[in-house]
Amino acid sequence: PMPTVAVLVGSLRAQSLNRRYAHALARLAEGTLEMRFCEIGDLPLYNEDLWADPPVPVLRMKQEVQAADAVMLITPEYNRGTTPAMVNALDWGSRPMGESCWPDKPAAISGISPGAPGTLGAQKELRERATVLGMQVMGLPQVYMQASEGLMQDDRIIEASAIDFLGGWLTKFAGFVEKHR
Ligand code: FNR
Repeated sequence: PMPTVAVLVGSLRAQSLNRRYAHALARLAEGTLEMRFCEIGDLPLYNEDLWADPPVPVLRMKQEVQAADAVMLITPEYNRGTTPAMVNALDWGSRPMGESCWPDKPAAISGISPGAPGTLGAQKELRERATVLGMQVMGLPQVYMQASEGLMQDDRIIEASAIDFLGGWLTKFAGFVEKHR
């Protein structure tokens, strides 16, 4: 069976470039990876006290991640780092101690921004966090996307060179996931 991937998008806005990019990746991966979107916008801000009566969205997210063979983290760049929504999801998933959903999950990281560095700063931070959480992060190739005219139409990549490159990245990730299964 196709490997399943829990996809987390670090932007909460409806017209998010990163959400559209993630959906475009899911289309490109059809037949190779089964990408399942894991919503993080309804997680409360992390508060240790809430474990007394765990919020349903937290339990749902952890269950979805646990059930998946791998994770894909798609992050915008906020002030050269990843977003609070992404960090919040990672933190919830990492607790309670000893019950983290992240260890050993093969992980792919990418992101898109209108700026030239294309989420370099965000991914650098996120890669570090994912590694500390025990994920098996695919090191290469790294994909820093700059949103340009002609790259995407709705939630489809339309630029031929980007389709090739991203298709190759997804195929490589599928192989990486199989190796870690
Ligand atoms: C940004 N943006 C941004 N872009 C970038 O390339 N480097 C950066 O450091 C920042 N910093 C930053 C901080 C904050 C608080 C916001 C709201 C935005 C711009 C950002 O890339 C742009 O808004 C993207 O469109 C956000 O991603 P989504 O929501 O479209 O997925």
